Amino acid sequence: MLIKVKHNVAPTLFEITRGDSRWPIYDSLLPIERKPPPQLLKWIGNKQRFAVIIGQTLPKDYKRYFEPFVGSGAVLGAMSPAVGIAGDVIKPLIELWHFLQEDPDKLYLHYEKNWKRYIKKPREIYSRILDSYNESPNALDFLFISRTCYGGVIRFTKAGMMSTPIGPHQPIAPESLRERMILWRNRVKNTTFTYGSFEETMSKAKSGDIVYCDPPYIDSQAILYGAQTFKISNLWQAISECKERGAKVALSIDGKKKSGSRVIDLNMPPTLFERQLYINNGSSMLKRFQKKDETMIGENVHDRLLLTW
Ligand SMILES: C[S@@+](CC[C@H](N)C(=O)[O-])C[C@H]1O[C@@H](n2cnc3c(N)ncnc32)[C@H](O)[C@@H]1O
Repeated sequence: MLIKVKHNVAPTLFEITRGDSRWPIYDSLLPIERKPPPQLLKWIGNKQRFAVIIGQTLPKDYKRYFEPFVGSGAVLGAMSPAVGIAGDVIKPLIELWHFLQEDPDKLYLHYEKNWKRYIKKPREIYSRILDSYNESPNALDFLFISRTCYGGVIRFTKAGMMSTPIGPHQPIAPESLRERMILWRNRVKNTTFTYGSFEETMSKAKSGDIVYCDPPYIDSQAILYGAQTFKISNLWQAISECKERGAKVALSIDGKKKSGSRVIDLNMPPTLFERQLYINNGSSMLKRFQKKDETMIGENVHDRLLLTW
């Protein structure tokens, strides 16, 4: 059966080889431009805008793709790996990815039911769902909160409660969400999602694998996601161990930093990375890795990618 799917740019024809017409699984999926599908989750700090160029920077011939800080998975969506392993410390987020793969109807119907209520009484429904989530953190409420909260700010108190206020925007209609879910289901159909720290996820990477890391920005995201426990020194160690086992590691870091602004002391081991890329709205500038080059980062630089190869 052939099906027409709306993608970011133009409708594309795909062949359904498994699944039903409601939740089809395609076999020939990857659009040539390798854009991630439109966001499934609203997620502050996502790599949606940079995912194509990051994906193009990673080696083409790899065995397995690892993403230990997956969040909303923009780069994962662009890569659509043949074998993927993705992890995060937010349990309901990992459960959400599992629902998408195994029981998309449940996820969708919860969103649809609450969206219909929400458009009549946004504040009341938002606070009801936030309470329901905080009483018992779960993937279904998590998706709804991510789509309706202020700016996709996924923020937790120290006690693990979500505290983001309602956003001013109109959340996407259920049918649009379903279209996105279909696209994402296909992009992550070969990825295993695991709940756990980056150390656990990265410890499985071996020779021939690639690992893309997008950790929380240590200066500005300490109250976001599950970042309270994140320690950059442990990341340096995990990257070094991946290198020793023969895996290649790419790291996005401190993307918002501009020249002249406060320099954050990352204590980065000087020989850990070989190269760094400065990415500006889809274009990039490659430099040899030199610490003193930091003064050359221009005002327009929006993201920085370090490579171990
Ligand atoms: C900057 S976000 C990743 C955004 C992602 N690239 C995207 O496009 O949505 C960082 C992620 O790291 C996760 N995280 C924080 N501390 C972690 C840890 N110790 N181990 C694994 N994941 C962690 C957060 O929950 C969050 O989802």
